[in-house]
Amino acid sequence: MKTKLSSINLLTEINKPENRDFLSEFTAINYPKNSLVYSPGHERDLVFVVKKGRLRLYLAVEDKDFSLAILEPGDIYATHTRAHVETLEDVTLMVMPTQKLHSYMATHPALSRTIIRILGELLKQSFSIIDSLVFKDIKQRLVDFFLYEAGHNGTQTEHGTTIRLDITTTQLAAIIGSSRQTVSTIVSAMLKEGVLEKKERTLYIIPNVDLLRNYAQS
Ligand code: HEM
Repeated sequence: MKTKLSSINLLTEINKPENRDFLSEFTAINYPKNSLVYSPGHERDLVFVVKKGRLRLYLAVEDKDFSLAILEPGDIYATHTRAHVETLEDVTLMVMPTQKLHSYMATHPALSRTIIRILGELLKQSFSIIDSLVFKDIKQRLVDFFLYEAGHNGTQTEHGTTIRLDITTTQLAAIIGSSRQTVSTIVSAMLKEGVLEKKERTLYIIPNVDLLRNYAQS
């Protein structure tokens, strides 16, 4: 299951010399790890670009929450949505009023095209989440999550594909739309059957990606 919101790095775009005046419109704000920075109905309508660190974007109703994406440096998001935004690490955000971005886009077609592509990817990501929740069971979603991480953030070693996952079981459960207990049971079974190995608290090895891919059907 994909957790990255967009493949477009807006930081690269706005650091180009022709966007220097645009860059100066942002205000940099630092937040410590594990803080809830925005909730639905935030008093100010802002857009922000992640400069440093990772954040979790999630929907929450009462005590249930569901992760929509992990925001990484270069990702853009806004406060006028139903999502909560919390920091997973110490972060730096570059913030500007949505209205200001809107005005800027009117005179900068290249930036408009980039923002539209980002919003298109956001829509694509939303469709993938719906598809996954409606048509796939939890075991398959968990396998998809590990396969995605292996493909995007994995390192090949002689023992297989190594992935570093600095998230708790509760956060992983929220990403795939399940409970901590269910995720913990399936991960234990995967470890027992050898399709996944755990080396340290945050270090996993997938000895054979094809074996893992077939695991959900087994
Ligand atoms: C030019 C700047 C932008 C303008 C003028 C704008 C405007 C709007 C408006 C009018 C809505 C409907 C709000 C409502 O239902 O009350 C909306 C929704 C939304 N916008 Fe934006 N937006 C902008 C930029 C962005 C950016 C950069 C993102 C994220 C990358 C974003 C993400 C969203 C999302 C996810 C929703 C749906 C919210 C929900 O229903 O939960 N917007 N936007």
